[in-house]
Amino acid sequence: MKRINTVVLCKPLGTLFAMAFLACSPASAQEAGKRLFLNNCAECHQRDGKGIANIYPALAGSEVVRGSGVDVALVLLIGRGEMPSFAGAISHEDMASIINYVRNAWGNSGEAISAETIAELQ
Ligand code: HEC
Repeated sequence: MKRINTVVLCKPLGTLFAMAFLACSPASAQEAGKRLFLNNCAECHQRDGKGIANIYPALAGSEVVRGSGVDVALVLLIGRGEMPSFAGAISHEDMASIINYVRNAWGNSGEAISAETIAELQ
């Protein structure tokens, strides 16, 4: 549904491609990250990123999540405690999408990390 909306929104701006890119691209990247988060992470950390007290830590307001994309990438690559490693299970591109989503959802705000940076960590 959202995808269709984005296309409808972006197509008329075809001649103003640069503007359309700026206006639409971050939104759809955030949508992709959200979908990946819901499929891979929300089971434990919950859709609202608030986790479950004493079992799954909240990602909303988490110092690790807000601190640095590299730290979040390391958690995903290595795993932590009860949390499995996602290395090999999710591509670096998808990891970047998820990280950029969680670092900019629920009131969090952080700079984007690239798939290349994550690949260098591994
Ligand atoms: C099977 C449940 C489970 C899944 C699925 C899961 N996690 Fe976790 N996650 C945990 C647990 C448990 C911890 C706490 C580990 C510890 O510190 O011992 C954690 C910790 C974290 C932390 C560190 C938070 C902090 O403040 O210390 C981040 C970031 C994180 N997870 C992100 C993710 C992302 C992104 C995904 C999806 C790709 C994900 N997790 C999937 C269970 C899960």
